[in-house]
Amino acid sequence: MDDLKPVTDTPAAKPVRTLPDAQTVTTVHHWTDRLFSFRVTRPQSLRFRSGEFVMIGLLDEKGKPLLRAYSIASPSWDEELEFYSIKVPDGPLTSKLQHIEPGDEIILRPKPVGTLVLDALLPGKRIWFLATGTGIAPFASLMRDPETYEKYEQVVMMHTCRTVAELEYGRQLVEGLQDDPLIGEMVAGKLLYYPTTTREDSLRMGRITDNLTSGKVFADLGIPPMDKQHDRAMVCGSLAFNIDVKAVLESFGLREGANSEPLEYVVEKAFVGDGI
Ligand SMILES: Cc1cc2nc3c(=O)[nH]c(=O)nc-3n(C[C@H](O)[C@H](O)[C@H](O)COP(=O)(O)OP(=O)(O)OC[C@H]3O[C@@H](n4cnc5c(N)ncnc54)[C@H](O)[C@@H]3O)c2cc1C
Ligand SMILES: NC(=O)c1ccc[n+]([C@@H]2O[C@H](COP(=O)([O-])OP(=O)(O)OC[C@H]3O[C@@H](n4cnc5c(N)ncnc54)[C@H](OP(=O)(O)O)[C@@H]3O)[C@@H](O)[C@H]2O)c1
Repeated sequence: MDDLKPVTDTPAAKPVRTLPDAQTVTTVHHWTDRLFSFRVTRPQSLRFRSGEFVMIGLLDEKGKPLLRAYSIASPSWDEELEFYSIKVPDGPLTSKLQHIEPGDEIILRPKPVGTLVLDALLPGKRIWFLATGTGIAPFASLMRDPETYEKYEQVVMMHTCRTVAELEYGRQLVEGLQDDPLIGEMVAGKLLYYPTTTREDSLRMGRITDNLTSGKVFADLGIPPMDKQHDRAMVCGSLAFNIDVKAVLESFGLREGANSEPLEYVVEKAFVGDGI
């Protein structure tokens, strides 16, 4: 029955489309030796809220689906779906997924879920997207969603990576937004981008937690410190980052909410595990 052939070797095998959940890769871009993004066809029936994630993957050697959670990086209006991925050298999925090429097929379970959705927050004036590494993926979706700019007067995207090259996907995305025919006008003057590095010199340095607690980011952007009345936040990074940044947000008086109980901030893990 399962004629979708397993990906056994590099480069990725080209499976035959037989499973209902197979989607075709349309473009692939390698950003660094450990980061890449790709786009796939979108199932006609797939509806999702910007910020949600789905399960995607390939068949393993035994012909069984090998699936992992992935944030959809494209906005809900996009005809295709975009993903931004790590390459874990010995990772069961990404050691193979990193070799996909246009025309290949991946499995995509069309059941989007997640906490990083605009509905999970009380109305506010300013929304903060706080991400490390591939944690920018859900915000790549939300930054391209008109609803974000309809709901908030200001959108602050803080993204921190070890090196400059690791920021490049986010930087190009933000730069491209200004000229976007669909939301360029909405974004102008509203989106404040604050990229930093921690292990390579760049224009702005430091961990998100440190730049919030020291007040540097507020001073640099010319905005008041966070408060419960005006500020809302969404967090996506490693477990250690999420724990530390939650404490910082709580120190400003913000409380963690959920779909079922909207409050001032929400959190999602960018991945499970402490390190590669
Ligand atoms: C809700 C959710 C959303 C996710 N969205 C994305 C996404 O948009 N893009 C993405 O690349 N990954 C994402 N992940 C992680 C993803 O599910 C896989 O873990 C990743 O693709 C690696 O798969 P793997 O089988 O190669 O290795 P795994 O066995 O899954 O992971 C091996 C180890 O690699 C490290 N690792 C895994 N993923 C990452 C990462 N993204 N950044 C840094 N280190 C990592 C961890 O230490 C992990 O223990 C998400 C995870 C969750 C829970
Ligand atoms: N990035 C690489 O070049 C590289 C290469 C090979 C392997 N790896 C491995 O891959 C795994 C994931 O690496 P990654 O770089 O994607 O993610 P990461 O280690 O989580 O770091 C991403 C960014 O988050 C910051 N950060 C980490 N913990 C934080 C915390 N508790 N509070 C605030 N900021 C925090 C880091 O700052 P600091 O720099 O100050 O920690 C870094 O700028 C790691 O185990 C690493 O050893 C990474």
